[in-house]
Amino acid sequence: MTSLRHDERWNHNIHYHSYVLEAVPPRARTALDVGTGNGVLAAALHRRVPSVTGIDTDAQVLVSARAEDPGVNWVLGDVLTHPLVPASFDLVTSVATVHHLPDLPRTLARLGDLTARGGSLVIIGLARSSRPVDRAYDLAGAVQHRWYGRSRQMWEHTAPTVWPPPHTYTQVRKVAASVLPGSRWKRLPMWRYVIRWDKP
Ligand SMILES: C[S@@+](CC[C@H](N)C(=O)[O-])C[C@H]1O[C@@H](n2cnc3c(N)ncnc32)[C@H](O)[C@@H]1O
Repeated sequence: MTSLRHDERWNHNIHYHSYVLEAVPPRARTALDVGTGNGVLAAALHRRVPSVTGIDTDAQVLVSARAEDPGVNWVLGDVLTHPLVPASFDLVTSVATVHHLPDLPRTLARLGDLTARGGSLVIIGLARSSRPVDRAYDLAGAVQHRWYGRSRQMWEHTAPTVWPPPHTYTQVRKVAASVLPGSRWKRLPMWRYVIRWDKP
């Protein structure tokens, strides 16, 4: 268990949790956090949603997730193959994880399948810069990182990481538009993007 309270911890993923927490549907009963890592987001969701599942392929990181909130349903498994019930989650979230799964169309389709009708999917992801506009965001991110780094307490997660991401921002945007029609995509400065999809 960490000695820092949730709201004292900061890193580039936690910084963008607000996009996820804003998307919690008002009467959400179920949520799934994919690639939950240390479980910080799943635990925050559990303060708003009665039944939360956090799935991850790494057994070690789930030990720390369990300590974060024993009331979350922590699942050791691969989101692509674990027998999760399709269309059963009012909110599906995934932070800094989609780039761990190289088949992007399959991954986005799977997350969409798991989302209940009328529910929402929110992905905070990492991608590679390939265009000048990407590099402008990266520069803005570096300035923000310095700014927040001075005033916040940087917290290092212990989940497995993958670098570099296999897809560019442009590729992710195109795949999201095709696999999740009607989804909204936005570039975020600190080396991230957000996709929000409200399932019809
Ligand atoms: C960079 S970490 C991010 C963890 C956490 N979401 C956060 O924001 O700190 C990515 C996580 O995805 C998990 N992961 C990778 N592939 C996965 C898969 N196929 N199914 C479920 N989890 C996966 C990794 O084990 C790792 O814990």
